[in-house]
Amino acid sequence: MITIKGLSKRFDQQLVLDNINLEIKKGELLVILGESGSGKSVLLQHLMGLLKPDQGSIAIDGQDITKMKEWQLLKMRKSIGYLFQEGALYDFMTVFENVAFPLVEHTRLKRKDIKDKVKRVLKTVGLEDAGNKFPSELSGGMKKRAALARAIVLDSKILFCDEPTSGLDPIKSRSISFLIKKISSELHCTTVVTSHDIRNSFRIADQVILIKEGKVVGSGTPRVLQDSQDAFIQEFLS
Ligand SMILES: Nc1ncnc2c1ncn2[C@@H]1O[C@H](COP(=O)(O)OP(=O)(O)OP(=O)(O)O)[C@@H](O)[C@H]1O
Ligand SMILES: [Mg+2]
Repeated sequence: MITIKGLSKRFDQQLVLDNINLEIKKGELLVILGESGSGKSVLLQHLMGLLKPDQGSIAIDGQDITKMKEWQLLKMRKSIGYLFQEGALYDFMTVFENVAFPLVEHTRLKRKDIKDKVKRVLKTVGLEDAGNKFPSELSGGMKKRAALARAIVLDSKILFCDEPTSGLDPIKSRSISFLIKKISSELHCTTVVTSHDIRNSFRIADQVILIKEGKVVGSGTPRVLQDSQDAFIQEFLS
């Protein structure tokens, strides 16, 4: 469903993505692992059409998004749930209003239907009692949950999560990881998560790729990677 071929991107002198080839199947949960600065967020930004590659293609449902015009990209992005690395909730809106925002912007649902939908989604992420809070009143874990609720409220069939566990303690990291897995399975969405949280990634991933300096240096199921004899992979995982 998502096919990346020969994707390369350079910023000035720096080659940030180096000939990435990747196939993500429908309904699959893929985790992109890599050290800080390895190119994970840049890769996700390409998948959203926020950056244009220097070379290569990205086909989503058979359509090459690197060739799309801005209006086509805007339309495409509405069908993708995106959890930004920084969370990016609107500070001046309550949790409820934040989650309702995509519905108000992109659908013609009636007020009551929006209310019902937001309530349901907040329940899914365990924030049913936090709808009236502002982001400044939330813990780090709650902010991630609220941002995740907003990312899934349009029932997207594709979900991208950039570092959903960064800055969280081990218990919250684990619970948000399992929540993403649950949502991904229940909604059957094709899910791409970036992370350097190896333990939780291996718990939830169908496939993992490991990137180093913009190159894929390992890929496969968690089991295959764990059993790999490759020195870099073993060093990264240990
Ligand atoms: N818009 C940009 N312009 C120039 N360089 C950029 C830009 N975005 C990212 N980079 C560079 O590309 C490299 C990869 O960045 P990226 O944000 O993808 O790393 P990352 O793997 O997501 O790291 P982290 O785990 O810290 O989030 C970094 O060296 C970064 O400085
Ligand atoms: Mg990043």
